[in-house]
Amino acid sequence: MERVVAAQHAAFGSFDGLRRAPPRSRSCAPNAGGNRARCAPISCVADTKHATKVQRNANLAKLQAGYLFPEASIFEWNALKLFIFFSPFLDQIARRRAAHLQKNPDAKVISLGIGDTTEPIPEVITTAMAKSSVCFSELMGWPHGKATVDMELSKELRVTLAKTFYGEVGISETEVFVSDGAKCDIARLQLTFGSSVSMAVQDPSYPAYVDTSVIIGQTSTFQKDVQQYGNIVYMKCSPENNFFPDLSTLPRTDIIFFCSPNNPTGSSATREQLEQLVAFAKKNGSIIIYDSAYAMYISDDCPKTIYEIPGAKEVAIETGSFSKYAGFTGVRLGWTIVPDQLLYADGFPVRNDFNRVMGTCFNGASNIAQAGGLACLSPEGLKAMHDVVGFYKDNTRILVDTFKSLGFKTYGGTNAPYVWVQFPGRSSWDVFSEILEKIDIVTTPGSGFGPTGDGFVRASAFGSRENILEASRRLKSLYS
Ligand SMILES: Cc1ncc(COP(=O)(O)O)c(C=O)c1O
Repeated sequence: MERVVAAQHAAFGSFDGLRRAPPRSRSCAPNAGGNRARCAPISCVADTKHATKVQRNANLAKLQAGYLFPEASIFEWNALKLFIFFSPFLDQIARRRAAHLQKNPDAKVISLGIGDTTEPIPEVITTAMAKSSVCFSELMGWPHGKATVDMELSKELRVTLAKTFYGEVGISETEVFVSDGAKCDIARLQLTFGSSVSMAVQDPSYPAYVDTSVIIGQTSTFQKDVQQYGNIVYMKCSPENNFFPDLSTLPRTDIIFFCSPNNPTGSSATREQLEQLVAFAKKNGSIIIYDSAYAMYISDDCPKTIYEIPGAKEVAIETGSFSKYAGFTGVRLGWTIVPDQLLYADGFPVRNDFNRVMGTCFNGASNIAQAGGLACLSPEGLKAMHDVVGFYKDNTRILVDTFKSLGFKTYGGTNAPYVWVQFPGRSSWDVFSEILEKIDIVTTPGSGFGPTGDGFVRASAFGSRENILEASRRLKSLYS
């Protein structure tokens, strides 16, 4: 026992002369051999009834239970099995998957629900990150191993991002903010605009827009009858309107979140549609937050950035990500563009406020991730990313062909790694359960992305070819 406790002290570095409290209550006892300690882990369940006098943030209390996320796939399955029945936080998909596996322990579950990439990060990129990380062990390990965030590396990445993705639309390096991901930037943008703005989202949409809006206090409570939060304008996107909202019926809002190619519907806005959106924002004096996390999946002539639309710099912020191109969901690297021309009502540049928020809440993306980002944008890195994207697009075609051959109407899938499959007259959750229970496949119920998503499931093309082909076989066995 003493050896374990001593090791714990050593780990905290007794050399610094600080007096530290002894390790907290671990029950340690010698094992039968007497030479090693068995330590019961500290219980993570609160063992007292003490409550503080702090009131819960009322905005957080408005949030509905995590409906879709985190997805089961982000956990090691064995760990999840242990954890699942004890955690109140796990989402319904993970619970249903776990319940299914408990009933059918031998089921070989395939996930078409996962929204994260599954292919390995290309070696040209990991090699650059490995080199960068080794620099941290070297004295004066410049260029990519400084103890603090390397400003020269950041500048190089901003310049390269501006050139690679925005070369034809004239975005300057100072308008690019490099970050730890688009999702984090969505939250920081909400923080920038604050609680008194009004906002609109596509319905269905990626849940982060709505949830951050609730947390920051822009909304009233969730209205169960319509499955919407009050004070958010839900812009209906369905096959009837070609997944583009009817702008003529929409009220003005300060902020308009718009994601293209869209998660979950897989639809992408055409040039004409984006021109209408920019004109609508201009007329109303609104700001568009344009999420382009899947832009590299576009293979037709839909714009890859909102700034292809004349006038967009005066009305739009754009956020992007390496997650879906290079498998960076765990590495964490993204960016946000805030053009100089984008101004508040009083003429103050939005960029300056976002710069302040970034400087206050964020100390810069890790040097290692940024070195990886630069490698992504090298000629070899770009080719490797296009290959990975191409692989998922081939998976998408297999899924689209499968569902179509079975007579289903499918949407998306051309410019995005998602297929939006319609099951007329049925609830998304019924379909989800049917597919899980009968053929051991996890999908994502459309209603989790917004009320208009009911009657659809999202099938994701992130997965191995073997799994996608096997999923295709099973779907054919169920529905043909
Ligand atoms: C539309 C959309 N935006 C942003 C993100 C998150 O990107 P990041 O990993 O860079 O935070 C996702 C991830 O699923 C997404 O689907």
